[in-house]
Formats: sequence, structure tokens, C-alpha cells
Amino acid sequence: MKTSKQIQEDFESYLQSLDYSRKPDELYAPIRYVLSLGGKRIRPTFLIMAYNMYADDIESVFSTAAGMEIFHNFTLLHDDLMDRADMRRGKPTVHKKWNDNTAILSGDGMLVLAYRYLALTKPQYLKRTLDLANETFTGIMEGQQYDMEFETRNDVTEQEYIEMIRLKTSVLLAACVEMGAVLGGACDADARLLYEFGEKIGLAFQLQDDLLDVYGDPAVFGKKIGGDILCNKKTYLYINTYRLADKEQREALDRWAVYDGNDPESKIAGVRAIYDAVGVKEMSEKLIGSLFDEAMAKLETVNLPAEKKGLLKDYAGSLLNRVL
Ligand code: IPE
Ligand code: IPE
Ligand code: MG
Ligand code: MG
Ligand code: MG
Repeated sequence: MKTSKQIQEDFESYLQSLDYSRKPDELYAPIRYVLSLGGKRIRPTFLIMAYNMYADDIESVFSTAAGMEIFHNFTLLHDDLMDRADMRRGKPTVHKKWNDNTAILSGDGMLVLAYRYLALTKPQYLKRTLDLANETFTGIMEGQQYDMEFETRNDVTEQEYIEMIRLKTSVLLAACVEMGAVLGGACDADARLLYEFGEKIGLAFQLQDDLLDVYGDPAVFGKKIGGDILCNKKTYLYINTYRLADKEQREALDRWAVYDGNDPESKIAGVRAIYDAVGVKEMSEKLIGSLFDEAMAKLETVNLPAEKKGLLKDYAGSLLNRVL
């Protein structure tokens, strides 16, 4: 088995060796831009690590892993447009550096590119891989739609939020873990358990992303802080703060929700102060911890010797201690 660093380096050089230079350049330059900005490469790493628990020749799944990573990058182009986000991976987002139409069309280009690489999956696994990818990508769209709809709703429950993040974030991580395992020859029961492991990690990961959106360091996080607050996103933080707020705090939250002044920083600081007063950060951290434990329990039951599962376990742990 390879180390996590080796896996990531080998995959990165494969990804950077791919050539997407066709004409017109305005279509492909943003694709090259986004794919060259790094990113944690969590999805392909999960896929390759899961494969490596069952088989050794990890290079044989690089194209499938690239397909999943490119798909993820496509969602980021459209997500940044939808979220009006200016910064990604420490650099201007595509719609800022170019324009909205470029983000839409280059995003579409990445979606097709993703399928080009997915189509290179070993023929005996191709149908199963594409079926899983299609179901996953459909779920992400649904999650993104809920995410947008929730911006203008004020009665979103924690349960609805969890289902929304399961769709927009978890299913992709889960599918990558399952895909890697299936390509490596895992049985259906293990593939299912690994999917559920990925799903739990995904929920914890999005909860943490939402925390970092309020409390992170932009220099490390690579995104502007407070974007979710400015968009009135119904995060775990917001939903629980609103639920626990007293009358005065609730009225303040209601006022900030319709704020259209020219000092966004005052809205971010104002809402964050109420989060702090309620103690919702600690509540969220606690939930992240218990989801992580649930994920580990799923991994435990996968029918493999413990030493095969160590890498995935450690990697998942490192993700949830992340500061970016
Ligand atoms: C960003 O994903 C979108 C979320 C699901 C929070 P990542 O945090 O994995 O982004 P990159 O690929 O590392 O930039
Ligand atoms: C990420 O949600 C979900 C997808 C990109 C599908 P966010 O909107 O929280 O992701 P970031 O914070 O912009 O990376
Ligand atoms: Mg976003
Ligand atoms: Mg979003
Ligand atoms: Mg976010």
C-alpha cells in the first residue's frame, strides 16, 4: 500500500499532465486555471485509497478519480456564481476573473471533461461507475437547489439542513469511496458500508466548512469569510442560533437578514456576535465529532484487516482537523 502523500503526489502529476488546450482559449483557460490552483483533492484521494485497500495498481483508477475531481471543480465554478463568491483557493473566482458567462460555459466544459475521464474506467465496471456517478451528480444538483431555496426561507429545520448537505456534499465523497472499493473488487456489503462512511465524513466536512466560513482564516481557507452570512445561508449555525436566541437576538437576526446597506462586514460581525452569545460553535464542533465517530464505526465493520483501513481512517481524521 502507498502512503497518503505518495497517492496524492502521483495523482496530482497525472492530473497536471492532462491536456485540455483546444480552441477557443477563453473556454479552456478558465478550466486550466481552476485545475491548476490546487485544492485538497479529497475526492480522488478517497477513491484511490479505497481502491488501494483491495488492489495495488492504483494508476489504473486515476482516470476515474480525475473524472470525479473534475466534476467537483465544475460544481465549484457554478457554486461560486450562485453564491456570489469572489475568492476560491486563495485566488479570484472564475466569474470574477473573467465573467458570469465564462463561469457557466467553462463549467459546462468541465462537466463534459469529467465524463470523458469517467468513460475511461475499466469496461467491466463502466456501467456501474456511470450509474453511480449519475445518481450522485443528480443528488448534488438537488442539494444545491435546496441550498438556494433555503436562503429565502426562515423556517428551515436542522433535519432539512442535514439532508441538504448530504445531497450537496456527502454523496460525492461517499460515491468516491464506494467507487474506489468497487473498482478494487469489494463485495456489495463493504461497498455499502464504505459509502455510509463517506456520507458521515461528508456531513462532518460540510459542517466544518460552514464553521470555517464564519471562524476560519481566509489566508488558509482560501475563501472570503462571512459569505454564508451575507447570503443568508441556513447553516447549522444559523438554524440553531435562531432557535436558541432570545427575543432581542431574534429581532437582530431578522434585521440583519434584510440588511442591504453598504457595510457587509457589519452584518458578518453582527450575526457572528449572536452565534458567539448562543455558543453554537461548540455545538457544531460536538456534532462534527459524533459524525466522525459514526463514520469510524462504519469503517470498523468493513470486512478487511485493520491495517488495510488505517490510511483511510487517518486521512479522514486529518480532514476534520483541517484549517482550510
Ligand atoms: C469545497 O470543497 C466545497 C465543499 C463541499 C465545502 P473542498 O473544500 O474539498 O474544496 P477544494 O477542492 O479543496 O478546493
Ligand atoms: C459546497 O457548498 C457544495 C458544492 C459546491 C456542490 P459551499 O457553497 O459551502 O462550498 P464553498 O464554501 O463555496 O466551497
Ligand atoms: Mg459556495
Ligand atoms: Mg454553495
Ligand atoms: Mg462553504
